[in-house]
Amino acid sequence: MRRAVVEGLGIYLPKRAVTNAELAAMVDTTDEWIVERTGIKKRHIAADGEFTSHLAINSAKAALADAGMEAREIDLIILATSTPDNTFPATATAVQEALGITHGAAFDVQAVCSGFIYAMTTANSFIVSGQANNVLVIGAETFSRILDWKDRTTCVLFGDGAGALVLCGTEVDEANDDNRGIHVCRLRSDGRYKDKLYVDGGPSTTKTVGHLRMEGREVFKHAVNNIASVMQETLDEAGVKPTDVDLFVPHQANVRILEGTARKIGLDLEKVVITVGEHGNTSAASVPLALGVAIEQHRLRKGDLVLLEAMGGGFTWGAVLLRW
Ligand code: UT7
Repeated sequence: MRRAVVEGLGIYLPKRAVTNAELAAMVDTTDEWIVERTGIKKRHIAADGEFTSHLAINSAKAALADAGMEAREIDLIILATSTPDNTFPATATAVQEALGITHGAAFDVQAVCSGFIYAMTTANSFIVSGQANNVLVIGAETFSRILDWKDRTTCVLFGDGAGALVLCGTEVDEANDDNRGIHVCRLRSDGRYKDKLYVDGGPSTTKTVGHLRMEGREVFKHAVNNIASVMQETLDEAGVKPTDVDLFVPHQANVRILEGTARKIGLDLEKVVITVGEHGNTSAASVPLALGVAIEQHRLRKGDLVLLEAMGGGFTWGAVLLRW
């Protein structure tokens, strides 16, 4: 059986970290409110002239170094982002150029905060079908550029960052092997909720970039149920119990959502990776950033069963179960 196996991981955060206290000097908010309602203490913000592609390139180079691979070995780049450098071409092609790759293909995937789960699922399909061998899957965002910095209900929530995985096609003999690689991917969306979290501009509508708008309470209401159900379906398809999972690496929007989800499906809270306090919500970058932090903290080892999930605008949501 052919599987997509993680061989490298890299993350990148812009240097500047902005605390809640700094935001409280800009909008009518407090550190106490932000921490109590979301768990967020700070977030990183890209410097002037630092684009999504720059964040993505830095994380991709770190992932290649971690894998011990040369850029020329990569035959596909999939970049999840809702904050591309330009409307087109795909930001993935800027990464391809920076890495000096002229073969294979590069494209972006846009599923907002679920983007990394969508990109991993896409990469998995390319690998399992034999259309690609070594894939860079990147989540990179500069949400600071689409925030309305006068809107306290959204500007305190998001941050910038990037994370990348190298996924390699590997022949796995399930009977004898250590069974590494992606086991199950599940994607969902429901467009009835597309106006609950959106950007109020775009090339075809306003000819502007627009700003992020969100009915936070409405998104929150659906988040725990949607995420818990797709996680349970993923575990059921793999035939494993929540207690079999070694590490749960959720999308980082709100500490109350990720703890609520873990409780709902019976995952031990000690197995949950929580980075929202330090990064805020970095949309498509949040899952790979959290994986990177788990590695730094020695909480993620080869052979661990890992459950990833995310939910975002659309609504879109999904989960991936893999053996690291
Ligand atoms: O990653 C994509 C998916 N996104 C999410 O999962 C986000 C989901 N939503 C959430 O995480 C939460 O709904 C929020 C963190 C956005 C908001 O928390 P909440 O507990 O749902 O608060 P709320 O929207 O119900 O607002 C409560 C109060 C309101 O005041 P009133 O109407 O009760 O007087 C808001 O105006 O808090 C007020 N408020 C603030 N106060 C201080 C809203 N934002 C702020 C703020 N500082 N930054």
